[in-house]
Amino acid sequence: MKSVPSAWSPVVQIENLTKRFRYGHGVVEAVSGVTLSLTRGDFAAVMGASGSGKSTLLHLAAGLTRPDAGTIRIAGTDLHALSDRERTVFRRRNIGLVFQAFNLIPTLTGEENIALPMLLGGRPDDNGDVARLVKELGLKDVCARRPDAMSGGEQQRVAIGRALVTRPSLVLADEPTGSLDSANGRRLCESFHRLCLEHGTTVLMVTHNPVVAFAAERILILKDGRLISETHRADYGTVQELTQHYIELTESAPQEVRG
Ligand SMILES: Nc1ncnc2c1ncn2[C@@H]1O[C@H](COP(=O)(O)OP(=O)(O)O)[C@@H](O)[C@H]1O
Ligand SMILES: [Mg+2]
Repeated sequence: MKSVPSAWSPVVQIENLTKRFRYGHGVVEAVSGVTLSLTRGDFAAVMGASGSGKSTLLHLAAGLTRPDAGTIRIAGTDLHALSDRERTVFRRRNIGLVFQAFNLIPTLTGEENIALPMLLGGRPDDNGDVARLVKELGLKDVCARRPDAMSGGEQQRVAIGRALVTRPSLVLADEPTGSLDSANGRRLCESFHRLCLEHGTTVLMVTHNPVVAFAAERILILKDGRLISETHRADYGTVQELTQHYIELTESAPQEVRG
């Protein structure tokens, strides 16, 4: 089941992805016909208003929910061709997840939470990755504490450390800077950037903050579940230009009315 990403197989290959949710008598198409390909070392930001489908897209990319249509290949592997068990193991080996709810284990310290995926994967911390992350994420003073004795920003940084510790080929991060002050937010974006450059990690990060999105190379905009813009940071002179583009696209009248 080991999957070796080759230079020509994209790390993320999403085709025609659609996910609907039922509520009452209605249906909402949270993700609608999204096609997206990310290669090794890509750092992509997905922007969009609340409810535009960003979290649903990340959950689909992680294989945590099943699409109604379309396919998700990660490092060449079709996630839904795997059994539930195989998909869990695949995710643990290949994908680092940072979700809005940090999902830390309350009875473990910060450091133990970061080390957990290594223990689950049965891999020893040969390279001192846990200590390196504790330092890089500025957690030295709090890493011996349990999550309930940490601030929201500190908990978020522990969740980030836990996602990065196995050096996954893909990191999926949902509003990873949401609980961080601007200095720590900037530091996080720098670590993502470094991961992409130095380890060839692919990062797909959700944010509604143009300043954060501007740290990524590729900038995607979702509206009503559809990918309505795919640009590169180099297309903008300043973060203000990106903000302007984002506002123009997302505040315009809906392109079509869905029944
Ligand atoms: N589990 C669910 N059940 C029903 N509706 C959902 C569920 N998850 C998301 N939705 C709906 O799908 C749409 C997209 O949600 P979401 O992906 O969370 O957006 P975002 O992360 O951009 O705020 C919203 O209309 C939301 O209400
Ligand atoms: Mg969300």
